[in-house]
Amino acid sequence: MTEKHIKHADTDYPVHPLIAQRWSPYAFAPRVVENAKLLSCLEAARWAASSYNEQPWTFLVARREDSTEFQRLLGCLLEANQEWAQHAGVLILTVICPTFSRNGKPNRVAEHDLGLAAGNLSLQAESLGLYVHQMAGVNLQVARQTYSIPETHQPVTAIAIGYAASEEAAPSEELAQRDRQPRQRKPLSEWVFQGGWKNPADLS
Ligand SMILES: Cc1cc2nc3c(=O)[nH]c(=O)nc-3n(C[C@H](O)[C@H](O)[C@H](O)COP(=O)(O)O)c2cc1C
Repeated sequence: MTEKHIKHADTDYPVHPLIAQRWSPYAFAPRVVENAKLLSCLEAARWAASSYNEQPWTFLVARREDSTEFQRLLGCLLEANQEWAQHAGVLILTVICPTFSRNGKPNRVAEHDLGLAAGNLSLQAESLGLYVHQMAGVNLQVARQTYSIPETHQPVTAIAIGYAASEEAAPSEELAQRDRQPRQRKPLSEWVFQGGWKNPADLS
């Protein structure tokens, strides 16, 4: 029941096993995540590269064992995400500061940097036997209100971290189906160009 479904990426070229193994489950086992593991995930996010080392991200964390806080964060998610994210061990709301602290000018790449931090967190989680499912489906107004996020900052995404369960444990057959689907990606030729727009790179 709590055995996770393996969905290794069928890669065209060799990649690090953590990258091949990572995927975003809908079936989470309703288990708490050990504090030491959560801290390692956050530490991995901390060491992400960022433009001017601005580290424009802020994470609001809610752990399953603190049910009041967990429910508050869950309430910031769109209903479709609440359905499965309620079983995760940790929920995180991500926030960025869209201006540089050094000069107040717009930081065009703040979301890019947040993505790097989330990527680090995902791979660290994978290395610890945890799974991550990120979410754009956040009610941003509710999130801003719930946590009194100032106008200087913007909520962006949510992140569920937890132990994956086998797909039969997904909250609905539709979500179980999604967990069963093989992972797919566009081939490199569709998005790696060389010499001009739409000119597929010849890297042979
Ligand atoms: C920024 C971001 C937002 C996402 N938002 C949602 C979401 O709101 N709901 C959801 O079910 N999945 C969401 N996902 C998960 C993606 O659908 C998933 O990563 C994608 O289908 C690739 O699958 P994989 O992560 O298993 O390789 C999101 C992923 C990212 C990175």
